[in-house]
Amino acid sequence: MMRLALTVNGERREVDGVWEGESLLYALRERLGLPGSKNACEQGECGSCSVYLDDTLVCSCLVLAGQAEGREVVTVEGVANGDELHPVQQAFVEAGAVQCGFCTPGLIVASHDLLRRTPSPSDAEIREALAGNLCRCTGYEKILDAVRLAADRMGAA
Ligand code: FES
Ligand code: FES
Repeated sequence: MMRLALTVNGERREVDGVWEGESLLYALRERLGLPGSKNACEQGECGSCSVYLDDTLVCSCLVLAGQAEGREVVTVEGVANGDELHPVQQAFVEAGAVQCGFCTPGLIVASHDLLRRTPSPSDAEIREALAGNLCRCTGYEKILDAVRLAADRMGAA
């Protein structure tokens, strides 16, 4: 058991009793009260647990909580602007890209990452950036629509 100190969504947080083999995903959901990141596969295959770790997109199910010691994590909760949806979130809702919603938080973080690097991505760039995020419901077309919509709006803003 150990104590973990890290920054989450801009706030310094400490948790006790973290077990050595525990994933960052578990710590975020069960200890830090941030259930936005989902645990669908816990094997790095679905992307539903995507978060930023020191500004790099990772699958939090594959990162040990201990590896986040002293580092900065941003979750889907931190992507939103307080109670206001981020333009990427808003676009997902409007484009009908949220069905069961299980994949959505990971897709939001991955799309956010794409759009900060590539503000006007081609369809191929969108597909590539989101290739690690599985969605069982939408057939991906609406997800592409959502990312295009977000890109347009963010470009116009
Ligand atoms: S839960 Fe982490 S990639 Fe699926
Ligand atoms: S909306 Fe259900 S898995 Fe994507």
